[in-house]
Amino acid sequence: MSKAAPEHYATPDRLMARQTLHAKYANVDWFSWVSEHLAPGDTEHVLDIGCGTGTFWQATLPATPSNLSLTLTDLSPGMVAQAQASLSITHPSHNIAYIAADATALPFAAARFDAVLAMHMMYHVPNPAGALRELARVLRPAGRCCVTVNGTDNMAELRALAAHVFGTANGGWGDTTLDAKATETLMCSTFSNVVRHDLYDVMVVTEAEDLVSYLLSTPQADAAGARARQKIERAVHDTMKRSDGEFTIAKRLHLIEGRVTDAGAAL
Ligand SMILES: C[S@@+](CC[C@H](N)C(=O)[O-])C[C@H]1O[C@@H](n2cnc3c(N)ncnc32)[C@H](O)[C@@H]1O
Repeated sequence: MSKAAPEHYATPDRLMARQTLHAKYANVDWFSWVSEHLAPGDTEHVLDIGCGTGTFWQATLPATPSNLSLTLTDLSPGMVAQAQASLSITHPSHNIAYIAADATALPFAAARFDAVLAMHMMYHVPNPAGALRELARVLRPAGRCCVTVNGTDNMAELRALAAHVFGTANGGWGDTTLDAKATETLMCSTFSNVVRHDLYDVMVVTEAEDLVSYLLSTPQADAAGARARQKIERAVHDTMKRSDGEFTIAKRLHLIEGRVTDAGAAL
């Protein structure tokens, strides 16, 4: 299964459980790294596609001028509601619009935005080429598009543990079916000046419960039903015991950026 079912993201709890692991153990600050490439402070109108719970903006807005006009969208109304609930409290003075929308049919006029972010979502879209054309359509000439994806070997250790527990390799989380190379190729047919940036990091997890929570958030755990927690706990505790209480996970992440040509989207 390569595309997470929409119901997987109907509520924010699974995504939040996974973000907790990264927030606790990552050495490189992913959100700062993405923000450096997106440079939202240099622009006026920014669109985030598949914004999830808006956690990226929780981290990024404190360092961003409050005159930024930000539009957050997600296919899941539950995600948009969660993003709005938290950001309207923490950043009440920022100009933020919240809209449930599909990346392949955006309810915006052409050339409306200066920059568009699609972070870890393009591999969920059944027609990523169509979504990229939509992103190009709503960007102004020379506007910047940033798409992030997982590397093919991203979190391979955890993926192997999940395969051991559930007997299935991939249930739609941390999808690698649209890898950096495929994304780059797709973006080259829609954008100019396409450049890829790579981020490598290593997380050493020391709390078994953090791995249990992560694995419980996966579609494989949903499919495993009531016995999921028990199966996961047993496997995690055995693994941690064998490796002196540590579980090492290598992260391989990519950001591909492109520009809309001066003549508009390269369609
Ligand atoms: C892995 S989460 C990433 C969330 C956020 N961008 C982040 O990195 O924290 C993927 C998100 O993409 C959304 N999504 C999936 N298909 C979509 C589509 N066709 N259009 C817009 N959003 C979509 C999901 O609802 C989910 O919130």
